[in-house]
Amino acid sequence: MRIGITGASGFIGSAFARHAAAAGHEIVAFSRSGKVIAPWVTESRRVSDLSATLSDAADATKPIALEASGCDALVHLAGESLLGWWSKAKKQRIWSSRVDLTKAVVASLSSAKPRPRIVLCASGAGFYGDRGDEQLDESSQRGKGFLADLCGAWEGAARQAERLGARVVFLRTGMVLGDGGGAMKLLKKVFGLGLGGRLGNGRQWMPWIHLEDQARLMLWCIESANVTGAVNHVAPGATTNREFTETLAQQLKRPAFFHAPAFALRLVMRDMATEMFLASQRVRPSVALDLGFTFEHPDLQSALTASLTSDLRPPTSDLRPPTSDLRPPTSDLRPPTSDLRPPTSDL
Ligand SMILES: NC(=O)c1ccc[n+]([C@@H]2O[C@H](COP(=O)([O-])OP(=O)(O)OC[C@H]3O[C@@H](n4cnc5c(N)ncnc54)[C@H](OP(=O)(O)O)[C@@H]3O)[C@@H](O)[C@H]2O)c1
Repeated sequence: MRIGITGASGFIGSAFARHAAAAGHEIVAFSRSGKVIAPWVTESRRVSDLSATLSDAADATKPIALEASGCDALVHLAGESLLGWWSKAKKQRIWSSRVDLTKAVVASLSSAKPRPRIVLCASGAGFYGDRGDEQLDESSQRGKGFLADLCGAWEGAARQAERLGARVVFLRTGMVLGDGGGAMKLLKKVFGLGLGGRLGNGRQWMPWIHLEDQARLMLWCIESANVTGAVNHVAPGATTNREFTETLAQQLKRPAFFHAPAFALRLVMRDMATEMFLASQRVRPSVALDLGFTFEHPDLQSALTASLTSDLRPPTSDLRPPTSDLRPPTSDLRPPTSDLRPPTSDL
């Protein structure tokens, strides 16, 4: 199969591309630069930089956001990072790089020949909002808040691809754990400084998934013709923030005495703290489990051990921008020296 990926240079996109290529698929990497260079990328194409081409969100369906002809499946992961200060402008970028870009991407699919038959669109466990101890699965209603609204609108925009005959899957992903990026990069630094600890009362449920399972489950969604709609990309071993903090501290052999009270987090980070660090989502991957998907890292111990030693991470040197075109091609086949570091070197 020929699989197009937007956000192919990112943390999840590069791991997925590498995994799908190893399984025998061809990868078309879409990026704003149009130049993602990696041994597992068959072809590199451009996706619109929303800020440069779509000044008016109402116009989002007009320009061609990407040229997806020849792709059997499109995996749409691109979007402004959620991390950082949620100013009005940042929230606008988070929204428009997902909702407006997804509208534009779907509109572009109508002119693709042949068209992708499968569309996977990123979403998040943030869809469920803050739900205490309620057991949530794909049939649960959307919650409240910026992230819940964002995921709802993002999925709504992607769902329009069904009108073009595509099978559409939404990836409701929890915190992705893997070496070299995402939350683990930040957590290892924080714990390394001795500043690790529970957030708020620590009783909030934190959905998470190991990067390897994220990539495997995404490919499983593509290859399973009966899978459609929302699929929770979270491990079955749900944990509270307190359990997560204690297990990570144990594995890193670092203290976790620090405690960030909810009021302080809200004072400093306002709605970002409430939605990203204090919201409770006890999410079960019901679709995956009921249809027979097997997780490699179903429990936190296993996922953290693998995250602290994993080599799934693509070497950053292989994702260099265009100047790397001047290198002799064989240099891309070098083993990544960064993977030879002991895992503690990030601390
Ligand atoms: N990582 C997680 O724990 C997690 C959890 C839940 C959901 N998700 C969702 O999964 C998707 C992929 O996550 P990730 O961790 O791989 O993200 P990432 O590493 O930040 O990569 C996202 C990619 O999107 C593109 N991008 C960045 N800013 C953009 C903008 N303003 N407009 C258009 N494109 C932009 C970039 O690709 P180019 O520069 O090459 O164009 C970037 O490589 C995201 O939509 C994220 O919200 C992630």
